[in-house]
Formats: sequence, structure tokens, C-alpha cells
Amino acid sequence: MTTFSYIKQLDDFKTTAAWLARRGWSEAAGGNMSVRLDALAALHEDDHIELPVEVPYIAGQIVLLTGSGTRAREIGENPEPNIGLYKIADDGRHYGWIAGNHNPSMELPAHFAIHNALEKNRPEDKAILHTHPASLIALCHVPGLNSGKAISDKILSLQSEARLILPEGIGFVDHELPGSLELGLKSAEQLSRHHLVLWQYHGLLASGATLAGAFDKLEVFEKSASIYWKLRAANIDPAGIDKSTIKEILKAFGRLDRY
Ligand code: 13P
Ligand code: ZN
Repeated sequence: MTTFSYIKQLDDFKTTAAWLARRGWSEAAGGNMSVRLDALAALHEDDHIELPVEVPYIAGQIVLLTGSGTRAREIGENPEPNIGLYKIADDGRHYGWIAGNHNPSMELPAHFAIHNALEKNRPEDKAILHTHPASLIALCHVPGLNSGKAISDKILSLQSEARLILPEGIGFVDHELPGSLELGLKSAEQLSRHHLVLWQYHGLLASGATLAGAFDKLEVFEKSASIYWKLRAANIDPAGIDKSTIKEILKAFGRLDRY
């Protein structure tokens, strides 16, 4: 595992980065992505950088993480200078750089804390993406939409399949400094239960088995939010599909227990 170009997950990075750019969701250097690889690396001699958070569940694992300041529109074209390969040390308190970009995203604390929580609670989710869709950030400025429950009830009731894809609803973290450990720890806590977490006034975090899978869930939430904004532009504040119908849909598909 020394040659960067042989990592099969790079195709997932390339495709998802290109789509994030195409949709205008990751403007300039906005957003970042990471994936845990199944492989374990032999201990690297550079394995000594101290982590801001202890991550015992991913000790010894390898993570691909986008570099700080990298642009989604360029990652898709040329991954190696934009994505770094890192190894979490066996003590779960340090990490080291292996290959590619070696200036990691400022959201490294969030990515590593979330991978740790996912490995513990939902190990099938190996990919995390963070992005800045305008329609989702705008929700944070609506009075009353200041919790995961309020946002989930309002926005995921506007289309009959949205809650089916996201039965647990959306997680929510009150505004924290970008790149801070607090943001990372609160997100990790929320992502143990949800696939999407809205960072107030900042953007969205999504997890999935792959980046494409995380992008699917982001697309569903963003579609519902754009329905909301179309209605608001028409001067309608929608009541949404009533709760009993939402429950009926979830029951029909065996997902009511996740509501
Ligand atoms: P990075 O370029 O450091 O990943 O930062 C982008 C971002 O969106 C921070 O929240
Ligand atoms: Zn951001």
C-alpha cells in the first residue's frame, strides 16, 4: 500500500468531488471528504503526530482525507496532490502521513472523531463528506429551525420518500468554530445515530458506506430543502405531509422503528 494510484476508493473521491463542484455545494475550498480503508498498514516511522482526540476504534487503520484548501473542482481531475493517505497509530492517539497531500483538512478532528464513532456504532459507514449547500445553510436562519427534530419534521415531510431514506431524521450541532474539536466531538455524537448532521450556519456532514452513498443522502435532504424554498418563494409556509401519513409510509417499508 505505498502506491497511491492503486487505491480503489480514489474513484469514489473523484466522482463525488466532481459532483459536489457541479452542484455548487463545495465552493472554492469549501468542504472536505475522508474514507477509512479496510487495509491496515505496517507501522510507519512518521506515525508520531499527536491527535487532538483519542480514537481507539480506528487504531491501526488507514484513512484517505482531502487536504486543507483543496478545491472540489480540482480533486476530481487530479486526486494525488489533493488527497492525503494517513495511518492512525496503534495507540489511537497519534497519526502519520503516508502519501499524497500532507496538509490535512482543518476538519481533521471531526473526521477522525466521527470515523472512531462510526467504527464503534455503524462500522459499515466508511465515508464522510462535509459540504456547504446554500439551501441547507439557509435553513439555519429560519426562526424555529434550530434543532434536528424541528428541521427533520419540517423539511423531511415535504416529499413522500424523504423520511423513508432518512427515517432517523437530521442531526444538528449548534454553531461551533470551524475545525474545532468541539465541532468534531458533537458531530461524532450525532453521527452515531444519524447519517446527516447540519452544522448551524456552516454546512452539512454526511456519512455512508461510500462517498457516493453519503452524497445520495445529502441529495435527498437538499431536494426537500429546495422544495421548502420554492414554497417559501411562493409565499407558502408548508405544513407538510401529516405525521400519521409519514408513519404509515415508514410502517409499510418496515422502517417505523427508526423514526
Ligand atoms: P479545509 O479546506 O481545511 O478542509 O476546510 C474547508 C471547510 O469547509 C472547513 O469547514
Ligand atoms: Zn466547512
